[in-house]
Amino acid sequence: MILVTGGAGFIGGNFVLDFLRDPTKEGVINLDKLTYAGNLATLESVRDDPRHIFFQGDIGDQGLVTRLLKEYQPSAIVNFAAESHVDRSIDGPTEFITTNIVGTFNLLECARKYWSDLDEFSKKAFRFHHVSTDEVYGSLSLTDPAFTETNTYEPNSPYSASKAASDHLVRAWFHTYGFPVVTTNCSNNYGPYHFPEKLIPLVILNALNHKPLPIYGDGQQIRDWLYVGDHCSAIREVLAHGKLGETYNIGGWNEKTNIDVVKTICAILDELQPRSDGKSYVEQITYVKDRPGHDRRYAIDASKVERELGWRPAETFDTGIRKTVQWYLDNPVWVEGVVSGSYRDWLQKQYH
Ligand code: NAD
Ligand code: TYD
Repeated sequence: MILVTGGAGFIGGNFVLDFLRDPTKEGVINLDKLTYAGNLATLESVRDDPRHIFFQGDIGDQGLVTRLLKEYQPSAIVNFAAESHVDRSIDGPTEFITTNIVGTFNLLECARKYWSDLDEFSKKAFRFHHVSTDEVYGSLSLTDPAFTETNTYEPNSPYSASKAASDHLVRAWFHTYGFPVVTTNCSNNYGPYHFPEKLIPLVILNALNHKPLPIYGDGQQIRDWLYVGDHCSAIREVLAHGKLGETYNIGGWNEKTNIDVVKTICAILDELQPRSDGKSYVEQITYVKDRPGHDRRYAIDASKVERELGWRPAETFDTGIRKTVQWYLDNPVWVEGVVSGSYRDWLQKQYH
C-alpha cells in the first residue's frame, strides 16, 4: 500500500488512476481535504475498486495521519496535497502557508514517527516522495540556461515561496533525521481532469462557451509544459529508483509562450469543433491586466532524471495538447460538474 495525499486533485488524481491501472499494485490510501480543487468525479472509475481507500481529511491533522499510517502501514507516501494556484495565493496566501508549509511539516513529523518504529526491512524500503514545482527557482531571462537541481531557490509568489519552504523542510528531515525522502520539481502540467482556473483548461472551456480567452500582460511569458501522464510516470520512476535525499527536475523540453499555447488550442478547436459562425477561436483572445510579480520564464533541464533513471516524457506538446483538447470534448459530464459546481456534492452522492 502507498499513501497518496491530494489524490482528488489534478495530478494526484491522474497518479491514482494510473497507479491502479497496474493490477500488481496492492492499493492506495487517498487522503484529500476536498478543497475547491479536490474532485471525486475524477476518481469515479475507481469508486468500486477495493484497492482505492479514500479519506476526506487534512494533512495537517496529526491524529488522522497517525491513525492512517498505523492502520494501513504504507511503504511510501507521495505528497501531492497543496494549494496550487498562483493567482489565489496572491489574493489570499493564508491557506498556502497552512497547507503547503505547516501541513507538510505535520505530515513529515507523523511519517517520521511511524517510520522510526518500523522493522529494519520496512524501514529501509520506506520512501517519502515530495511533489514540488519548478517555480521555487524563480524567473529566468530569455538567455538564461534552464533550471538544474543546483539552481538557487528564488521564489517570487506566495505559492512558490510556500512550496520552497516545504522543500526545505523535506531536505532537512533527510539530513537531520536520516528520514528517507526524494523530491521532484516539475514544470507546468496539463492534461485530463485539470481544474479550469489554470491556463490550458480555462482556455479550452472559455473558447467552447463563447467567452474571452484572457492573456495576462503581453502573453510572452514562457512556461515548460509537461503532459500529466508523463509527470506520473516520472514520479513512479523516482519513487522506485531515486536516490535518497536527492531532488530531480522533471520537465517536458517544451518551452512555449503563453500566446503560442493559446493559439495552438484555438487551432485544434477550429479543426475539431469549429465555431458556428465560421470564424476562428483566436477572435476570442483578450489581453488583460498582468498578474502582479508575474515570472517571465521557467525552463527545466531534466537531464539528471534521464541520465540517472532513464526517464523521458512520452508526449510532445503537439501530441499532449491534442489529447487534452479531445479529452475535454469527450468528457462533458466531468466538465459540467466542474463548471456548475455540482462536483462539490459528489461526496454526499457517491461516497457515504
Ligand atoms: P490541485 O490544486 O489540482 O490539487 C491539490 C489537491 O490537494 C486537491 O485535491 C485538494 O483538495 C488537496 N488538498 C489541499 N489542501 C489539502 C490538505 N490540507 N490536506 C489534504 N489535501 C489537501 O493541484 P495539482 O495541480 O494536482 O498539484 C499537485 C501537486 O503538484 C502540488 O503539490 C503542486 O505544488 C505540485 N505541482 C503542480 C504543477 C502543476 O502544473 N499543476 C506543477 C508542478 C508541481
Ligand atoms: P497557470 O496555469 O496559472 O500556471 P502558473 O502560474 O503556475 O505557471 O498560468 C500559466 C501561465 O498562463 C502563466 O504565465 C499565467 C498565464 N495565464 C494567463 O495569461 N491567463 C490566464 O487566464 C491564466 C489562468 C494564466
